[in-house]
Amino acid sequence: MELLSNRPLHASVPDKYVFPPEKRAALLHDAPSSDVALPVVDLQRAYLSDAGRRRLVAEEIIKAGKEFGFFQVVNHGVAEDAVRAFRKASAEFFAMPAEEKLPYCSDDQSKPFRVASSTSYDRNQTRYWRDYLKLRCHPVSDELVGHWPAKPESFRSSLAEFSAQVHELAQTLLLLIAEGLGLDEGFFAGDLSGGDTQMNVNYYPPCPDPSVTLGLLPHCDRHLLTVLSQGDVAGLQASYRGRWLLVRPVPGAFVINFGHQMEIVTNGVLASVEHRALTNSAVARMSVATLIMPKMDCRIGPAPDMVSEENPAKFREFVFREFMAAYDTAAANREDVLEYFR
Ligand code: SIN
Ligand code: FE2
Repeated sequence: MELLSNRPLHASVPDKYVFPPEKRAALLHDAPSSDVALPVVDLQRAYLSDAGRRRLVAEEIIKAGKEFGFFQVVNHGVAEDAVRAFRKASAEFFAMPAEEKLPYCSDDQSKPFRVASSTSYDRNQTRYWRDYLKLRCHPVSDELVGHWPAKPESFRSSLAEFSAQVHELAQTLLLLIAEGLGLDEGFFAGDLSGGDTQMNVNYYPPCPDPSVTLGLLPHCDRHLLTVLSQGDVAGLQASYRGRWLLVRPVPGAFVINFGHQMEIVTNGVLASVEHRALTNSAVARMSVATLIMPKMDCRIGPAPDMVSEENPAKFREFVFREFMAAYDTAAANREDVLEYFR
């Protein structure tokens, strides 16, 4: 497997990475949208036991979530050192010589840790300008840690620490979302958020011609909640009222967005919004996405409290495993997976 992170910087982009003009970033929609910015929610107050202030934060999250499907959080409780250490270890992993990474190179999705490159959106025709790590990070066990790479030396310990702290943040967010929607406090705890967590570390090397490539084509996340560290290099765009809104890097922030399961259980109130990643020619960009998901045998459907006569159930009930299979079928056929569950 050829990894982008191991090729010399080319003067031109190899053909297989060149998207047809109608798929390229500049032509998909108008890009500039400096008049609207994604909300940045300060979570500090949420950690206080003051019920009134907590309520305000929960409401702020729901307001941002309803309008954008995306928001950023600061003062989120994940230590700066934990973020820095894992981002550094990941960058060191990508920087290793190809032969060190070779044992981990795989397209087998069942592997608990693997590195791969350039998933193609159209069955091997055009490739994303991206290498990625896909790994399972939670619940953590000695066996799982044994699958993570032993090099660089700090990888395992920094991942375990980062993942534990990000999970705490995710649980806090889910409590606030439940509160903001008027659901039981524990609504998302348990099976809905208790599946094996996957982490994607995306690495987009500098690209000689960002106008013809994409890091990731527009997609919606299929899980419940995504907690993303995008670092300080811009590149993520979220769909907003027919155009693309740049998710501006805010120092130390996490970007939060909803997956399809959140859209379904909230009966459409907190929608899963399309997003994509652009490339740039100046610097490598790395994003770390933690994907909180239900257990595979979790039964999913609109929460009874989100359904009423005015807002009848928009989705049918299903088992999460069914959804995961349907997602791949829908992607292959370029269909909207939610249509299968209405
Ligand atoms: C993603 O959609 O998982 C990653 C987006 C990014 O690279 O910022
Ligand atoms: Fe995504």
